[in-house]
Amino acid sequence: MTPPARVPKSTNITWSEGHVTPDRRREILGHGPATIWFTGLSGSGKSTVATQVESILAGRGVNAFVLDGDNVRHGLNSDLGFAPADRAENIRRVGEVCRLFHDAGMIVLTAFISPYRTDRDVVRARHPAGTFFEVFVEAPLDVCEARDVKGLYAKARAGEIPDFSGVSAPYEPPVGAELTLDTDAQTVEESAAAVLTLLEEQGILG
Ligand code: ADX
Repeated sequence: MTPPARVPKSTNITWSEGHVTPDRRREILGHGPATIWFTGLSGSGKSTVATQVESILAGRGVNAFVLDGDNVRHGLNSDLGFAPADRAENIRRVGEVCRLFHDAGMIVLTAFISPYRTDRDVVRARHPAGTFFEVFVEAPLDVCEARDVKGLYAKARAGEIPDFSGVSAPYEPPVGAELTLDTDAQTVEESAAAVLTLLEEQGILG
C-alpha cells in the first residue's frame, strides 16, 4: 500500500507495511474494496439510499458500513462547523477514513452533502482507480425543501441557520459522477438497486 502524497507535519515517522495483501483480503471478504460517495443537498436522500444499500448488502453477508454526515459530526468531526474550510476538513478527514476502509478491503458508503467539487476530488484522488464511485443524489432544491425532514430549511429561510447548503451556501453538482439518482422520480428501492448494479458491473461484488 502506498503512503499518502500529503507531507505530514510529523517528522521521524516511517511507513509500516503489513503482510496481508489486498488479494488475500478480497479472498477473505468475498468482495473488493469500494467507497460509494453519495453527494447531494440535505434531504436529497443520501442517508436513506446509503442505509438501504447497507441493509441489502448485509442480507448478502457483506459487512458494508455507512458513514453519515450528521453522525460523524457528533464524534470525529465534532470540532467542525459549516464554513467552507470546515467543510473541506470534514470531507478530507472522512476521505482518509474511507481510504483506511479501502485498505481494510471493505465497502464504505458515505452520506455527506460535500458541496464543493474540489473537496470531493481530493477524496477521489486518495483512491486507486475503480474503487471510488461518486453518486449524485439529484433531488431539486424545492423537493428537498418540501420534504424538510429535519425542519432545517424552514430555519434556514428564517435566517436561523447561516451558510445552509442550497439556501445561503453553494452546492456544486458533480461533473463526472459514476451514477446519478433522481430521488424525486425513483423509489428508494430503485435507487438502491442502481447502486448495487454499479457495484456488480464494476466487479466489486461477486
Ligand atoms: S458537509 O457540507 O460538510 O458535507 P455534512 O454532510 O457533514 O455537511 O452535514 C450536513 C448535515 O448537517 C445536514 O444534513 C444537516 O442535518 C446539518 N446541518 C446543520 N447546519 C447545516 C448547514 N449550515 N448546512 C448544511 N447542513 C447543515
